[in-house]
Amino acid sequence: MKGIVFTEFMALVEETWGLKCVDDLIGIVNPESGGAYTSVGTYKYAELVSYITALSERTGIDASTLILTFGKYLAKAFMKQYPGYFRDAGDLFSLLKSIDNHIHIEVQKLSPNAMLPSITYEEQDENTLILHYQSQRQLADLAHGLILSCAEFYATEIDIERISISSIPITKERFTIRKIG
Ligand code: HEM
Repeated sequence: MKGIVFTEFMALVEETWGLKCVDDLIGIVNPESGGAYTSVGTYKYAELVSYITALSERTGIDASTLILTFGKYLAKAFMKQYPGYFRDAGDLFSLLKSIDNHIHIEVQKLSPNAMLPSITYEEQDENTLILHYQSQRQLADLAHGLILSCAEFYATEIDIERISISSIPITKERFTIRKIG
């Protein structure tokens, strides 16, 4: 996975639980990479999973909640690093519809080794968008957190209903996103 995922994960842990927690997690996980993450590096998905598991044990917060929280945080990094996508899309549904056929395609061009999910969509009506998440990784909670932060960015109130279609080896989830108010 791309370095930004790891540098932002460590930044979230440091801001929320302190530098000692970062050091402790690296000590527990004892990653192949040594734990010195850079945004230009590439690291194993399994390393992220180990951090989440260790952080969950340490904080007592379930892994799903931690991954969702991380998704919200990661979206803020994307907003800083790639403001053009947010500006150009102009509204929440347009942004979400452009992930698969534009944003992630550009990410993949710049970083051929990026590990990206498939995020296809169906437009149910003007207030309802259905997203289909599909990945070899189990990061639907990350998608959930990313969507929530994007909604906040556009000041759009939403309700999300999730249905799990399958989990291992391919995770498939359906997100029904409704604008409210
Ligand atoms: C400007 C907006 C976005 C940018 C620049 C972006 C870019 C990226 C990057 C760099 C990664 C990491 C790839 C890797 O680790 O190798 C990633 C992964 C991911 N992205 Fe996006 N993304 C954006 C928006 C979104 C949104 C709104 C969603 C929500 C549906 C989403 C869903 C995901 C998920 C779930 C992953 C984790 C990999 C997986 O589940 O297989 N992305 N994205």
